This record gives sequence, structure tokens and C-alpha cells, in this order.
Amino acid sequence: MCGIAGYIGQRNAVEVVLDQIERLEYRGYDSTGVAFQSPEGLKVLKRAGKLGQLRAVVADERPEAFVAIAHSRWATHGAPNDLNAHPHFDQEGTVAVIHNGIIENYLEIKEELTRAGHVFQSETDSEVAAHVIGLEYGEGISLEEAVRRAVGKLEGAFGFVVISMREPGKIVCSRNASPLVLGFGEGENFIASDIPALLPYTRRVAILDNDMVALVTKDGISAMRSDGQAVELAPFDVEWDIASAEKGGFEHFMLKEIHEQPDVVRQCLAGRLGQEEMTLLGLFSDHVWHDIDRVNIIACGTAYHAGLMGKTLFEKMLRLPTDVYFSSEFRYNDPLLSPKSLAVFVSQSGETADSLAALRLCKERRIRTLGIVNVVGSSIAREVDRVLYTQAGPEVSVASTKAYVAQCLVLYLLGLHIAQVKEMPGVDVRKGLKAVRGYPDAVQEALELESAMQEAAKKFLDAPLVFFLGRGADANVALEAALKLKEVAYVPTQECPAGEMKHGPLALIEEGTLAVVGATQANTRDKLASNISELQARGGHVLGITTKDDGLIPGVSDTVAKIPATGDWYLDALLSVVPLQLFSYYMALYRGCEIDQPRNLAKSVTVE
Ligand code: F6R
Repeated sequence: MCGIAGYIGQRNAVEVVLDQIERLEYRGYDSTGVAFQSPEGLKVLKRAGKLGQLRAVVADERPEAFVAIAHSRWATHGAPNDLNAHPHFDQEGTVAVIHNGIIENYLEIKEELTRAGHVFQSETDSEVAAHVIGLEYGEGISLEEAVRRAVGKLEGAFGFVVISMREPGKIVCSRNASPLVLGFGEGENFIASDIPALLPYTRRVAILDNDMVALVTKDGISAMRSDGQAVELAPFDVEWDIASAEKGGFEHFMLKEIHEQPDVVRQCLAGRLGQEEMTLLGLFSDHVWHDIDRVNIIACGTAYHAGLMGKTLFEKMLRLPTDVYFSSEFRYNDPLLSPKSLAVFVSQSGETADSLAALRLCKERRIRTLGIVNVVGSSIAREVDRVLYTQAGPEVSVASTKAYVAQCLVLYLLGLHIAQVKEMPGVDVRKGLKAVRGYPDAVQEALELESAMQEAAKKFLDAPLVFFLGRGADANVALEAALKLKEVAYVPTQECPAGEMKHGPLALIEEGTLAVVGATQANTRDKLASNISELQARGGHVLGITTKDDGLIPGVSDTVAKIPATGDWYLDALLSVVPLQLFSYYMALYRGCEIDQPRNLAKSVTVE
């Protein structure tokens, strides 16, 4: 993995694909490379490091090609260096190949090919795949047929893009699990691993499905299944504007996306709220909700934290037993799955390999599945029985902010929907709808805490460790707030329910330690106030985040940030994440971190 670009047409192809790769930089990468057709033959240029390093080499060459492919790599096999960067040649140098994903059987193929005299330049599984494609590309075989035959021999996840001088008017691509999107132009066509890379050039796109091979020429795109049968692609027009995939005046995508959240909430609610009722289209029929006896929410990272909010909500509001699993743990622990249960997959990208694997296990076990997904047409969205889109728009910053808020909001809407369908006497759906209707304004107001969070970040810039505490739903948000600080500012954190501190972590508190305490939940504030005293007695400094109507916590905190009270415990807790996102952002800014692409992380984790 990570970013893929391909172009064929009348423009300077190398410039186009490098621009596409630049638009995919948010995915995180450690090397880049480009292949193009030149008068001297197929040429590959590649460099470890950032795109600028490759651009410098390209500037010396001044290529004028009409066909090019490019890649940004996030290392999975072999170190991030020039040799391991993509594209790779086959043994004869006939094809150049870029690849996202992991070839699981590459070692056995590599051994076999090495015995047959093949020489490999890199340590990558991708180069092995290039050799397999090259071997299949014999006399009288078309490039698309060679790729089709080769992918039949490769196991694992992949998105391939291949060019050759033997058939200079073609780019061939194929995918299994790693996303590929085709872009349609006039006398030119495009390939990318993600839609934002296509938007400056075309809005007409088609998602390449699993087990498909596509042939892209300047005049058209056709596709076949892995059995050789032709298939119709289903192009559609992307409605995102280019500006929504760019920084829009903010220094970083993360800050832009934090500020987009009032609109994100509006978009997420759009078409779903009536005066008395709410409508979530495309869900299961009403009787299914009566049948469901248990919910399992399965996700990774930030999406997992949204899942924890879902658990608290479903159990408290619906009395519906709910478990939350890390996707990477789920399928290895022989999960107990009631046939009447519902498995909910929460994912921004819809491509997270661990979540996809867990989804496939649930499908094998014939469990009902529901996706809460941001990326339309992504793998999870397509494979679940039903999908609710978060409608948050493209999230570019590696650290998820607006997607988390939208995920939690969709879980809230789902909770209201189930309560409505089951006519639950204890749940006031109308009240919930009212609270949610005012939520965009509440988020806007919470954003006004920006300068207070800037000040707090300046003050605690050098904190060696930051505690994130809360009770109930606030303890869930504490986990997410801590993850943000770790990810973007590289500050170690300790997060746990506040009542757990005295069972161990309290030993870490010393003079000047910062504890960020979420206190939006009125029912536990008394207890929380005692926890705060315990911290302060040991020299801890408490930054309390609470609602404006709270008369207790502001009086006992050293510093306090007040968010508007929404009249709903769940929405209050969720709102507290907004100032905490800002706190992480400014901590990262003042500590000089690479905010949008934190070290070691990628936006979409498409390997298990
Ligand atoms: C953290 C973050 C990650 C993702 C996780 C799951 O800011 O973004 O923890 O939440 O990798 O990704 P998705 O939601 O795409 O499945």
C-alpha cells in the first residue's frame, strides 16, 4: 500500500500521475515511484522519502509520456528504500507494476522463481507479482489476459496497475480487496486508489470490483471478471467538490476537518429527521429489530471508540446487550455469535482489512450485518447486508476527527430508530430528535473554545504524560481524546475510567502532571469531584471539560472548558471531544509534529 495513480491520454502523463499521488499524500507513505513509456523504452524512477525527492529526479529527466503510473508506498515487506519502492519490473523488464496490498504466497513463488533463475532487486512481495505477470505475458497473449492469469496464481489482497512497451496504448489494472477507482475523461482516462486523486480531472468514476481486471486505453475502459467474462462497469458522478478535499484556508487538514464538524453533523442528519419521527432509509424491516437479541460492534481505533459510545447508548437507552470488539481480535477468539444477533461494522474508509476479515466471518456464520461507513462504495459498504453512511465527506487527515463525530451520531440515530420501531415506553424519541436538531449549533459553539485550548496546549506542551479520565460516556470519549494526542502530538497518555485511578494508575501522578477530566455526565459528578481531589492532593493539575450548566466541576478544577448543554447525556459527552481534538491539534502544532501524516501511521489500513 498506499497510493496508486495511472493516466493515459494527451497530457504530460508523468505530471498528471505525480499530481494524483500528491493528492493521496494523506494516506501516509515512505517512498514514491513512477513508470512511463519513453522513446528508449519503459522507464522507472523511484525514491525513498517524500514526493519532493522523486520530483527532483523527474525534473532532471523531463519525461514527455502519454502513459504513466505512479505509486506512494507504505512499507509492508522490506525497508522503505529506493529499491523496494514501486514500480517493479518483471525479469525481462517487459512490464512495470505497482501494487497495493500483500501477496500472501509470495515467498513460495519467489523460491520457485529463484530456482528457475529469476533475480529479484527488492525484498518486496510486489516484485514477485511483477515477475508472475511478466511470465504470463508470453507471445500472443494480451496484457489484460496476462494480468488475469497472473492474479489467479496470487493469494492475498491486491490492487495492481501494469504497463508495458509491447502494448503502449494500454494500462491494465486488477484488484482484490485493495481499492481501485477508474476515472473517465474525454480522450483520456485515469486510475487511482482513492477518489480525491481523480477529482481535479474528472467526476465520472467507477469502482473496480473485487476479482475484476480492467483495460484502460485513452478511448475507453472495459472490464472482465477473473474467469474472463466481460462485465459492465457502473460509472457514477462524484458529488464532492474539489475544495472539500483540499485544506480550505486552514494550516492543516486536521484543523479544517475539526472546523467542518457543524456541517458534518448537518450532512449526517440530512434527510433523516422529521418533526415526530426519524427515517433511516435502507435498514432492516421493522420485525427484524424485534428479533435482534444482541449487538456486536466491531471496529478499529477511533471507530472502535465510536463503537464504545454505541454500547453505552444501546445498553442504557435500549437495554439491548451490546459488546464491542477490536476487529483484529474478533475472529481469532472464536466469538460467541447468537444467530439472532446483529454485527455492526464501523469504519471511516470501509477498507480496513481487519474489519473486512471480521465481516466475512460474520457472513460465513450467517449473522446479520450492518455497516456504518463513510466511503461510499467501499468494500465494507458493499459487503454488509445494510449500510448507513456517515455522510461526513472525505477525511484527509490521518487522525480521524469528523468521522468519529459522524459515527457516534449515526449510532445515536440508530438507537432512536430502534426505540421508535420497538415503541419503547422509556425512550422519548421526540426529545432526542430535538436535541439532535440543535446539535450543529452546539458543535459550532464548542469550537469557540479554540483559543482556550490553544492556551492549555501552550501551558502543557512539555508534559511527559497526560491522563484522560471520565466516567460513563465520558470515559469512552477519554479514550478517543487520548488516542488523538498520542497520534498527532506523540505524547504518551494514560486513559481510564476516573474511578480506576486509585486501583493503580494514581501511582504515576506527581507534581504538575496534567489530567484532562471529562465531566459532562451529571449522574457521576459527585464521585468525579472526589477523584479530582485525589489527583490534586498528589500535585496533579486538572483540566475539566464540562457543560455550561454544571455548578460543581468548575469549582474544583484548576482549568475548565465549558461546552453547551444539549439536554442529552450522550450528545453532551460526544460534544466534549471537540475541544479535546483542538487540544491535541495545538499540542502537535507547538511540538512541531507532522500533523496530517503522523509518523508510522496510514489513513487506511488495508493489511491485517
Ligand atoms: C485514528 C484513526 C484510526 C482509524 C482506524 C480504523 O485517528 O483514524 O484509528 O479509526 O484505523 O479505520 P477505519 O475507520 O477506516 O476502519
